[in-house]
Amino acid sequence: MSKVLVTGGTGYIGSHTIIDLINNGFEVVSIDNLTNSNDDVLEGIEKITGVKVTNYRIDLVDLASLLQVFRDHPDIEGIIHFAAYKLVGESVEKPLAYFRNNLLGLINLLTCMETFEVANLIFSSSCSVYGNAEELPVTENTPFQEAESPYARTKQMGEQIIRDFAKVHPDHQAVLLRYFNPAGAHESAIIGEAPSNPASNLVPVITETAIGKRKSMTVFGADYDTRDGSCIRDYIHVMDLANAHTKSLQFLLQKKNATNCEIFNLGIGEGVSVLEAIKAFEKVSGEKLNYEIGPRRPGDVVAIYADKERSERELGWKPERDIDAIMESAWAWERARSGK
Ligand code: WQD
Repeated sequence: MSKVLVTGGTGYIGSHTIIDLINNGFEVVSIDNLTNSNDDVLEGIEKITGVKVTNYRIDLVDLASLLQVFRDHPDIEGIIHFAAYKLVGESVEKPLAYFRNNLLGLINLLTCMETFEVANLIFSSSCSVYGNAEELPVTENTPFQEAESPYARTKQMGEQIIRDFAKVHPDHQAVLLRYFNPAGAHESAIIGEAPSNPASNLVPVITETAIGKRKSMTVFGADYDTRDGSCIRDYIHVMDLANAHTKSLQFLLQKKNATNCEIFNLGIGEGVSVLEAIKAFEKVSGEKLNYEIGPRRPGDVVAIYADKERSERELGWKPERDIDAIMESAWAWERARSGK
């Protein structure tokens, strides 16, 4: 059984990925300092899979503690690196915190890979590396535009650091995964996204409004040049996203890839507008959502969605869930965590 180290294992995408890894026969060790998550998640993972996962509560910025994890587990075959700060707005306020945490954490991890000869790395990148892309859908070769935030810049720079590392380490290999808009929850409603209050991403804002945590929500602009005037995004179900990590790990372990640093977009390849997302929620939940049309949110791109041809072809991955499944699972999770 291959052992994999997951950083950020109690976070939103990390925890869902651990479930998919366990279901596919991997042994998992987690590192998470719990700054933006809770170790209840480990109980949820155990409930769902029947497997108890060990979490090291350490900070990736602390190299000495990180080295010790690798000494404890000399048989780690791959690393999936989620742990990072991810709030776009906060990154504008605290750029140094973002650069220190996201880049130093990555550099320390690469140092451990070098020291302990761990060959395989999967890195959480983001479609925000594309900035305001000029062509749609975006492919992995679409050139980067200026990053819209320090958060996005840490992802651009993180990718570059890994590419430079891979150039001088032919025995190491990496996969860079560019996520579009992850949403939804595990179908058991035992784990899901637990956003720091208040949520700012669309799907948790919708479910929080419907459950009554907020009185109403605002659609940020309905006067864009799109089919209904609202912005378009590529929402990907977190369990489909999770499975892409398992497939990426299998891809690396098979060593069939052409280069030692591969990049994949992870989206469903279809754009959904904000108003369509709201309609999907109302349809699957039977709830009437209290929303109003408001002004545009500064920094929003009008439309972005993925070309997923390369990820499907190379990884043998296929996203199976649509916006309805996302809303259904997100709503079940919201009700479960609110006790309603
Ligand atoms: C989606 C759409 C909003 C809230 C961000 C990051 C990106 C990423 C995913 C990171 C937009 C609209 C939202 C609301 C609304 N990855 N909206 N009312 O901005 O596409 O991407 O999260 O971790 O890097 O930038 O996601 O969910 O905030 O917004 O109308 O109350 O919903 O304007 O069109 P976004 P989002």
